Amino acid sequence: MSASSILHRPSAAAQGEPIIRLEHVDKAFGDHVVYRDMSLTVPRGQTTTIIGPSGGGKSVCMKMIIGLLLPDRGRVLVAGHNVPDLDEVALRTLRRRVAYVFQGGALFDSMTVGDNVAYGLREHTDLPQDEVLARVRACLELVGLDPAIAGELPASLSGGMKKRVALARSIAMEPDVILYDEPTTGLDPKNIAVIGDMILKLQAELGVTSLVVTHDMPMAFRVSDRIAMLSDHRFPYVGTPYEMATSNVGLVRDFVHGRISEAS
Ligand SMILES: Nc1ncnc2c1ncn2[C@@H]1O[C@H](COP(=O)(O)OP(=O)(O)OP(=O)(O)O)[C@@H](O)[C@H]1O
Ligand SMILES: [Mg+2]
Repeated sequence: MSASSILHRPSAAAQGEPIIRLEHVDKAFGDHVVYRDMSLTVPRGQTTTIIGPSGGGKSVCMKMIIGLLLPDRGRVLVAGHNVPDLDEVALRTLRRRVAYVFQGGALFDSMTVGDNVAYGLREHTDLPQDEVLARVRACLELVGLDPAIAGELPASLSGGMKKRVALARSIAMEPDVILYDEPTTGLDPKNIAVIGDMILKLQAELGVTSLVVTHDMPMAFRVSDRIAMLSDHRFPYVGTPYEMATSNVGLVRDFVHGRISEAS
């Protein structure tokens, strides 16, 4: 299979079809079971949000989607291809099309903001320098940052700005799918709103598929088409924000309304 066949730009006709499907996945680290017979579907062009307890396996789920971790059993399908079967070349293509905005959003501290945002473009494309710089400016503007900060080092930025730069770096590659791992943790309400705006804007304007992990329920309700709740090593509860908010399942109700922060 050629690497370029792995993913393609979303077409209007394909919106809503599953772009990611995890099927009957088991994953354990030694004796520690993270997933048991877990399945999850992420429709193309929509925003799906994972909620659930700390240490439950949310980041592990995202890492399996981009092949950083392998399931012990089951399939992890991205655009129809089983990620554990992909070779190195195909995996590299997958990671260009599926951006993972890491929890913590680590930037390269010794590189300027502009070089951070340009990093993937310089590594993975042969775009001429003026186009790289134009894309960097456009991406910084898209995340609500002044392109003039391109020459600064990350150390001079606030936490909220660093998260936005990390996001700009991810969208510079024009991915089809963005995996946001706790994109608002540690941010103030204004920056939380900005990140929420970004997720909505990328979906509305570019048709990006988003998978978001967050503990922030107002943000989950605001950005999501569907919310999946992790419990007992799988995702037994999946629904629209309205369905989750009005669920009569005690565990969902308590988690969604913040009466417990840890469920199992
Ligand atoms: N590479 C690894 N090796 C061993 N154990 C791991 C590894 N990665 C994750 N784990 C374990 O798997 C479990 C799930 O981890 P994960 O990071 O997915 O949790 P999480 O739901 O993202 O939690 P948080 O909300 O705190 O980010 C944890 O018990 C963690 O210690
Ligand atoms: Mg995590």
